[in-house]
Amino acid sequence: MRFAFLTWLLPVVLALPQYNDGYQTVDSSTQPVQIRLSYQGPTAMMVSWNTFAQLHRPTVYYGLEPFFLYQVATSSDSSTYPTSLTYNNHVNLTHLWPDTTYYYLPAGSNSTVPYSFRTAKVAGDPTPFSVAVVVDMGTFGPLGLSTTTGVGAANPLQPGAHTTIQDISQQLHTFDFVLHPGDISYADAWLKEEIQQYLPNTSRVDNPTVYEHINNAFYDELVNITAYKPYMVSPGNHEANCDNGGTTDKTTGIKYTESICPVGQTNFTGYRNRFRMPSQPSGGLENFWYSYDYGMTHFISIDTETDLGHGLLGPDEGSPEFSGPFGLMNQQLTWLQNDLASVNRTRTPWVIVLGHRPFYNSAGGICTNCSAVFEPLFYQYDVDLYFCGHSHVYVRTAPVYLNQTDPNGLNNPRFTWYVVNGAAGHYDGLDTLQYPLMPYTQFAQDTDYSWSRFTFHNCTHMTLEAIASNNGSVYDEATLFKNRTCNDDSWKFPPW
Ligand SMILES: *[C@@H]1O[C@H](CO)[C@@H](O)[C@H](O)[C@H]1NC(C)=O
Ligand SMILES: *[C@@H]1O[C@H](CO)[C@@H](O)[C@H](O)[C@H]1NC(C)=O
Ligand SMILES: *[C@@H]1O[C@H](CO)[C@@H](O)[C@H](O)[C@H]1NC(C)=O
Ligand SMILES: *[C@@H]1O[C@H](CO)[C@@H](O)[C@H](O)[C@H]1NC(C)=O
Ligand SMILES: *[C@@H]1O[C@H](CO)[C@@H](O)[C@H](O)[C@H]1NC(C)=O
Ligand SMILES: *[C@@H]1O[C@H](CO)[C@@H](O)[C@H](O)[C@H]1NC(C)=O
Ligand SMILES: *[C@@H]1O[C@H](CO)[C@@H](O)[C@H](O)[C@H]1NC(C)=O
Ligand SMILES: *[C@@H]1O[C@H](CO)[C@@H](O)[C@H](O)[C@H]1NC(C)=O
Ligand SMILES: *[C@@H]1O[C@H](CO)[C@@H](O)[C@H](O)[C@H]1NC(C)=O
Ligand SMILES: *[C@@H]1O[C@H](CO)[C@@H](O)[C@H](O)[C@H]1NC(C)=O
Ligand SMILES: *[C@@H]1O[C@H](CO)[C@@H](O)[C@H](O)[C@H]1NC(C)=O
Ligand SMILES: [Fe+2]
Repeated sequence: MRFAFLTWLLPVVLALPQYNDGYQTVDSSTQPVQIRLSYQGPTAMMVSWNTFAQLHRPTVYYGLEPFFLYQVATSSDSSTYPTSLTYNNHVNLTHLWPDTTYYYLPAGSNSTVPYSFRTAKVAGDPTPFSVAVVVDMGTFGPLGLSTTTGVGAANPLQPGAHTTIQDISQQLHTFDFVLHPGDISYADAWLKEEIQQYLPNTSRVDNPTVYEHINNAFYDELVNITAYKPYMVSPGNHEANCDNGGTTDKTTGIKYTESICPVGQTNFTGYRNRFRMPSQPSGGLENFWYSYDYGMTHFISIDTETDLGHGLLGPDEGSPEFSGPFGLMNQQLTWLQNDLASVNRTRTPWVIVLGHRPFYNSAGGICTNCSAVFEPLFYQYDVDLYFCGHSHVYVRTAPVYLNQTDPNGLNNPRFTWYVVNGAAGHYDGLDTLQYPLMPYTQFAQDTDYSWSRFTFHNCTHMTLEAIASNNGSVYDEATLFKNRTCNDDSWKFPPW
C-alpha cells in the first residue's frame, strides 16, 4: 500500500504550476471564502467553500507537509440556488490516512500558508478526545448579535465580551471537531431585524439579499474554526425558510408568513446546498440524518424538523411552514432503528445523538412529536446522550425515560441523558427558564451565552462542560459513568 501511494506522486508533481497560479493570480470572484470541512469516514474529508463565481472544476491541493501540497483532488460540485450570492463548492479528499494531519488549499486561494485538518480516528480507537458543540448560533456583529439591539430585543453582548465564535477560536486546541445541531446563521432573522429597526427597512418582499448577506457574514466569521476543524451540522427550524416561522410587525399589524419567501429561501434550500454531510457511508439522507464513528463514539445526527415518522408531522412540516418531507414515509425512523441496531458497542461503546429540538427541557419548546417517535429507540438501544438546543438556555437533566428520572443519576444510568444548550447566541438573545424547573433538571441557566464540550475519556467516562462564551470559563461540569468493560485490547493499529 505504501508503494501505491508513491505512484500518485508523479502526475501530481507535474501539476504543480497550477498550484502556484492559485495564489499568484488573485481573482476575487473565484477566491475561496467560508471554507469548511466535514468528515466522510476516517479516510476522507470534504472540503467545502464558497466563491462568487461558479467554478468549472473545484480543486483542492493537499499533502502531509505544509510547503509541499503534492496531491490534487477535483470535483464538478459547484452549485448555487435562486437568491444566493455565492456558489457552494465541494471536493471530497479520499484515500487519506486516519488520524493524520493534512495541509490543504483550495485553488484560487490568496493565502500563502495552507490550512490544515486532522482526519478522524478509526472506530474502536480508545484514545481520549473532545468535541465542541454549539446550537442556535447566528451571525455576530452589525447584521446579528452585537452590543446593541433593535427595538424590543434583549440580551445584547456586553461590551468587550467574547462571542461564542471568538471563544471557540481561542480554544481551538481543546477539541477535535465541532457539532452544530441546528439554527445556523439565523439569516431568517433579517425580517425581525428590519421590523425592530436594527437593520434598514428594505422593501421586504422585493429585496431578499439581506438574508444572503447574513448567511455569508456568518460563514465568513466561522472560517478560522471551520477551515481547521470539521463542522458537522443538523437541520434546525431557522434553516427551513426566510420568514423565521412567521414574524409579526406589531406596529403595522402585518403578519409575515412563508409566502414572502422567494424561491431559494424555502424548504431548507440553502442548508442542502452548503453542506455535504457523510450520509452516503451511513445510508442516511443528505444533511438531514446520518451517522459516523469517531474513535470510541458513534455519532448520530437526526432531523427533528421534518420526516419524523409514525405519521407525525415535524414542526417545520405542517402549515404554515411548508418544508419537507425529504424521505419516504418512516424512512428516517427505519434508518435510525437499523443504524442503532448495527452499532458494535464493543468497538464504539458511546452512542451520542444530536438533534435540534428538546425532548426534555425547563424552558418550554419540547417537541412531543419528536420524543414520541425517537425516545423509545433511544431507550431500546441504550443511547447515552441526546444533545440539542432550540431553546436558548442551558438545561442539564438527569437521565430520563418517559418523564421518569433514572434512580442512578449519572452513575451508570439505564436511561438516556438529555442536555439542552441553545445559548450560543444570535440576534434574538436568550430565552427564559420556566419555574418551577422540571423535576428531572439538574442544572440550568438563562443569563449567559455559552457552548459545550464533551470529553470522552475512555469507554466508561465522558465529561460534559458548559462554557461561558464571554470569558471561556467552565460554569457547569458533569461526568457520565457507564459500567462496562473496555475492550481496548481488541483495538489494533488500523488495517489500511
Ligand atoms: C485574501 O482575500 C480575502 C478576501 O478577498 C482578503 O480579505 C484577505 O485580506 C486576502 N489575504 C491576503 C493574504 O491577501
Ligand atoms: C417597511 O417596509 C414595509 C414593506 O415595504 C412597509 O409596509 C412598512 O411600512 C415599512 N416600515 C417603515 C417603518 O418604514
Ligand atoms: C482569522 O484569523 C486571522 C489570523 O489570526 C485574523 O487576521 C482574522 O481576522 C480572523 N478572521 C476572523 C473572521 O475572525
Ligand atoms: C467522500 O468519500 C468517501 C470515501 O470514498 C465516501 O464514503 C463518501 O460518501 C464521499 N462523500 C460524498 C458526499 O460523496
Ligand atoms: C404532531 O403530529 C400531528 C399529526 O401529524 C400534527 O397534527 C401536529 O400538528 C404535530 N405537532 C406539532 C407540534 O407539530
Ligand atoms: C421540499 O423538497 C423536497 C425534496 O426536493 C420535496 O420532495 C418536497 O416536496 C419539498 N417540500 C415543499 C413543501 O416544497
Ligand atoms: C465488535 O467489535 C469488536 C472490537 O472491535 C470485535 O472484536 C467484534 O468482532 C465485533 N463484533 C461484531 C459482531 O462485529
Ligand atoms: C412528559 O411530560 C410532559 C410535560 O409535563 C408531557 O407533555 C408529556 O406528554 C409527558 N410524556 C410522557 C411520555 O408521559
Ligand atoms: C476512565 O476515565 C476516568 C476519568 O478520567 C478515570 O477516572 C477512570 O479511571 C478511567 N477508567 C479506566 C478503565 O481507565
Ligand atoms: C466568567 O463569566 C461568567 C459568566 O458571565 C461569570 O459567572 C464568571 O464569574 C466569569 N469568570 C471570571 C473568571 O471572570
Ligand atoms: C460494575 O459492574 C460490575 C458487575 O456487575 C460490578 O461488580 C462492579 O462493582 C460495578 N462497578 C461500579 C463502579 O459500579
Ligand atoms: Fe430552533
